[in-house]
Amino acid sequence: MKRVVFSFLALLASFVCVAQSITDETRQIREEFQDRKFGIFLHWGIYSMLADGEWVMHNRHLDRDEYAKLAGGFYPSLFNAREWTQLFKEAGAKYVTFTSRHHDGFSMWATKSSPYNIVDATPFKRDVVGELAEACSEQGLKLHFYYSHMDWQRTDYPTGNCKNCPHDEATTNWDSYYAFMNRQLTELLTNYGPIGAIWFDGMWDHKEKEFDWRLEEQYALIKKLQPKCMIGNNHHGAPIGVEDFQLFEQDLPGQNTAGFNGAEVAQNLPLETCMTMNNTWGYSITDSNYKDGDELIRRLVKAAGMNANFLLNIGPRPDGKLPDQAVERLKQIGEFMKANGETIYGTRGGCVPPQDWGVTTQKGKTLYIHILNKVEGGQLFLPLTGQTITKVTTYSDNTKLKFQHEKEGFIISLPELPNTVDCILKATLK
Ligand code: GLC
Repeated sequence: MKRVVFSFLALLASFVCVAQSITDETRQIREEFQDRKFGIFLHWGIYSMLADGEWVMHNRHLDRDEYAKLAGGFYPSLFNAREWTQLFKEAGAKYVTFTSRHHDGFSMWATKSSPYNIVDATPFKRDVVGELAEACSEQGLKLHFYYSHMDWQRTDYPTGNCKNCPHDEATTNWDSYYAFMNRQLTELLTNYGPIGAIWFDGMWDHKEKEFDWRLEEQYALIKKLQPKCMIGNNHHGAPIGVEDFQLFEQDLPGQNTAGFNGAEVAQNLPLETCMTMNNTWGYSITDSNYKDGDELIRRLVKAAGMNANFLLNIGPRPDGKLPDQAVERLKQIGEFMKANGETIYGTRGGCVPPQDWGVTTQKGKTLYIHILNKVEGGQLFLPLTGQTITKVTTYSDNTKLKFQHEKEGFIISLPELPNTVDCILKATLK
């Protein structure tokens, strides 16, 4: 009996051990992800040819068979994965999230699970995902895959709320569609090296509680294939199950100007804000409403101050080039990150929450004070109690600044601040 109890305890201990090591590994991948802070989102597919965003098939009520014929003309002759990733690296990005398959159902890799893909259905015949995976690995960029749960092309997909999407009861077959997705995910997680994350989208096509997306099983498959692959899901709600990070579409955590992000901000998970440079994700020839470089830098810094990563989108052109406006902005961000990356990478949202004048980021005892808006009167108030500051300097030239301790925090005497997008001070905490 004793022996049985002993072996039972030993077995239990080994489970606990396994659970413990999984937890440590999970903690580590999440922290490394948080350290990276800045990623590039790419929305690219055959929709780029119609130059009206990635929802063009839906928005213009295009017939699915006619739309599919676009593939026969897709030949992005100027596509060069190395050129892209070099630029991303110079911009200071640490990861790339690529639309492996968007809602239009077209796969951008050599999938064996459907002929509707970049290799089999286009004259281009090149595995874009494969080339990108190689180029990312050369540049030390992590690769994440966007993967759509919703599909406007397949006849077995059980269409939900989508009004303009084809739906035929006779061919709808959830089991077959679910198996298809899992086969594709298996390919993506088997053939392209280590993948940083799978980024799901489109689940909101079925909002009713009774629709079961069978996420648990799908997530388990991902973790089985690549235990270090994180899972994020743009379902606009609080993270569920083993999801590793919370996503915010077009807004910083806690804000909801775009109307997608009602959920509370998770306190113990990494956060990621994804944002377009103009108004559209996929390439749009009429959308030149680009935020300027300063504004994009401000958003990146604010995201860091709110403890979130910033995933900045680009919609490549149908010829395989990135839009000139995007390239120009990436270069400006790159210059900023080169000079100030230390105050962003590897930091967390600082102990002083966002203020009217800007945000703080923090690494250990170092608090970076990012002044993004004009401060009147030459004095900056830092609400901080229960902690002591021992030194404040300007980040760019290390000038020592005077400060005084008040009941509610610290008042820092500012010098004449240069007219830059982000004036950074460095404070040392005791
Ligand atoms: C929305 C859109 C989709 C886009 C995504 C990016 O879910 O449907 O087109 O890819 O946002 O966040």
